[in-house]
Amino acid sequence: MAEIITSNDAGREDLVDAAGNCFPAPTRVARTRGYGRPGMNTAEFDRYCADNQARFLDQLITALRIPSISAQPDHAGEVRRHAEHLVEIARAAGFTRVELIETAGHPAVYAQRMVDPGLPTVLVYGHHDVQPVDPLEEWVSPPFEPEVRDERLYGRGAVDDKGQVYMHLAAVEAWLATHEELPLNLKMIIEGEEEIGSANFDDLITAERDRLACDVAVISDTGFVGRNVPSMCIGLRGLVTVEVTVEGPALDLHSGVFGGAVQNPATALCHIIDSLRDAATGKVTIPGFYDRVVALTATERAGIAAVPYDEGDFLAQAGHAPAAVGEEGFSTLERRWVRPTLEVNGIWGGYQGTGSKTIIPARASAKLSCRLVPDQDPAEIAGAVETAVKAAAPDGVVVSVTTLGHGRPVITPTDHPAVRAAAAAIADVFGREPIFTREGGSIPPVETLQRVLGAPAVLVGFGLPDDQIHAPNEKFDLDQFRKGIRVIGRLWSELGQLDTATLSPR
Ligand code: BES
Ligand code: ZN
Repeated sequence: MAEIITSNDAGREDLVDAAGNCFPAPTRVARTRGYGRPGMNTAEFDRYCADNQARFLDQLITALRIPSISAQPDHAGEVRRHAEHLVEIARAAGFTRVELIETAGHPAVYAQRMVDPGLPTVLVYGHHDVQPVDPLEEWVSPPFEPEVRDERLYGRGAVDDKGQVYMHLAAVEAWLATHEELPLNLKMIIEGEEEIGSANFDDLITAERDRLACDVAVISDTGFVGRNVPSMCIGLRGLVTVEVTVEGPALDLHSGVFGGAVQNPATALCHIIDSLRDAATGKVTIPGFYDRVVALTATERAGIAAVPYDEGDFLAQAGHAPAAVGEEGFSTLERRWVRPTLEVNGIWGGYQGTGSKTIIPARASAKLSCRLVPDQDPAEIAGAVETAVKAAAPDGVVVSVTTLGHGRPVITPTDHPAVRAAAAAIADVFGREPIFTREGGSIPPVETLQRVLGAPAVLVGFGLPDDQIHAPNEKFDLDQFRKGIRVIGRLWSELGQLDTATLSPR
């Protein structure tokens, strides 16, 4: 790190690095390697967490009351309001420099506490926006009036991802209350657009790359594979979303007068969608779709086969779906974690009111998404989808395809010292070494962080499979919340002991 000495208000000399990070003089002297770095006072930290758990929970509940739904333009003010709230909480937790960062969309929040240039720097990524809440009538308690029932906190964003962001803030507070100083340099970037595809995140990271420079990125937006199965996610699928519109006549027509003599856009759309997958094998039929899919090694398959999996539990988590189905030749976990898919997320067109209305609709549309795996390229797959959709269009309609969003699949290292640090931290609190898992969901910014900042990502998430993220009655298990804060404290301690030059234990 470049070093510039400036004088602070007290006349001491602070150290400022190339990115403008200021390391206060007294801490620097106290913390410089060679002066000895005290380890973690685990008992004190845990006691502080226990004594303050009601307040930590209240802090999260307050945040959950703010409906920061990024997808709905009429909620933009609420996303901003939550960002402003987060700034306050991050300051109170002990971050020394906290800022709201404007983007072309919803604002992000940046926070840092720089301790010593000789210590590792960790960047925590999370998101403070949440998914829409419909169908509202299915919530037992309203989505933005959080409620604790049976040791679970219910509310939109409880686990995805406000709950996990506020765990990090609680850990910082607890650490500073029980230690002289953090054991590492800590930065946080909490974005406000993850749930709508992080369209402005690449620009943000690129523009702020110096300030966000770090040795390791830590992301808490995933979960354990089961309640008593501590896990670390090492792979996320990518994503491409498109909207298909099929247009026929300029207006809805009488289906008796015109039916049978013009193309029906709704029928045409069904035909197009049906052509994209083979019903018998469950395989996507789009030419080139699997071309770049990297085959799993026998070891990877064995690793997945060893993950505890119960079909009954899975179906229950899947809203009591009648059966597990999917691509032939692959297990349910493989289908969810390491195989690409094509799904219809929404489809509409024609008359949907009560009774019947005998028309040929003028148009019909669908939203489709593909989950992607290494090394599929989102832009390439979007192009292949568009070509296949247009090729399948029957005569008599005009078809348009628009790409809505995309994100790349993610693979994180498994043998990095930071991963071992996280595993040790989890094992210490949960009493068991975590297993490596993958997730079928996507967090595209993780790939951006790894690529632009050149830092390995470590996914340390505390959700559970029945948390109902994106669905009614999203919840966060309070035992996971409380233990997660203790894991994070230990993680800082472990990471703080790594050598910045090699990030290997020193
Ligand atoms: N936290 C999720 C990602 C996730 C889902 C992790 C399931 C682990 C298990 C994240 O907030 C999310 O929902 N991502 C979106 C991304 C999309 C909108 C670009 C997703 O996966 O649909
Ligand atoms: Zn989400």
